[in-house]
Amino acid sequence: MFESISKFGVTRRAFDNKICALYTSNPRDFTNDPYKRVDDKAFGGGPGMVMKVEPLELAIKEATSQQKTHGVVAPLRIYLSPQGKVVNQQLVNELALHDGLIFVCGRYEGVDERFIERNIDLELSIGDFVVSGGELPAMLLIDSIMRQLPGVLNDKESAVQDSFMNNLLDYPHYTLPREYNGTNVPDVLLSGNHRQIELWRLQMSLWRTYQRRPDLLQSKNMTKIESGLLKEMIEKHS
Ligand SMILES: C[S@@+](CC[C@H](N)C(=O)[O-])C[C@H]1O[C@@H](n2cnc3c(N)ncnc32)[C@H](O)[C@@H]1O
Repeated sequence: MFESISKFGVTRRAFDNKICALYTSNPRDFTNDPYKRVDDKAFGGGPGMVMKVEPLELAIKEATSQQKTHGVVAPLRIYLSPQGKVVNQQLVNELALHDGLIFVCGRYEGVDERFIERNIDLELSIGDFVVSGGELPAMLLIDSIMRQLPGVLNDKESAVQDSFMNNLLDYPHYTLPREYNGTNVPDVLLSGNHRQIELWRLQMSLWRTYQRRPDLLQSKNMTKIESGLLKEMIEKHS
């Protein structure tokens, strides 16, 4: 599954350029069970299977020593779980400061609780919905964390203007043609006036955030210019 980030796109380029490295391991390689089983029925009954402690614990040990060979002394061990803290951009930025991360991906009903108690530093969720395994959540996180690493994005792809940076959503984007089925690109973007364009984009970001995610604005320290630009839009639409 992880080939979709190691073999494609921005993340592939970062791996090729050795900005970071990805190792994956399969818990099935860490069991003595002749059928390579890593799960069993839940104590107390009920539907679904539970992942056992030992294969996961051995896998995490191996991942930890793998990271040591790259100079990472204490990697942060994360279990992807719908019961974890919901990830946002701020958390992604903080995770990007760590030297090494280990992601544990659950399957079935999840993992034996004792594994979490003994081996996990942080439980993270990608949102209040359930997917079938931790691999997709891990890949989402790895991609977003890598975008924050120096040298991963070039100027054209810069993450600085992405949504959630600065507690704002991104502004609307346009490209050729200038006119499409009667709809035109906003004049200001064709004006060549960089200051005006910058202000218009900031105003659109503020307005979008106000309309779609007002919760983000509550934790934002607005500058005088930002408050003025937003007020202008609110008045215009009232
Ligand atoms: C089918 S889910 C198990 C859900 C578990 N029974 C529960 O309700 O908390 C299997 C695995 O997918 C991963 N997973 C599912 N939803 C997730 C989410 N929103 N965020 C992160 N990981 C998730 C976890 O690793 C989980 O162990």
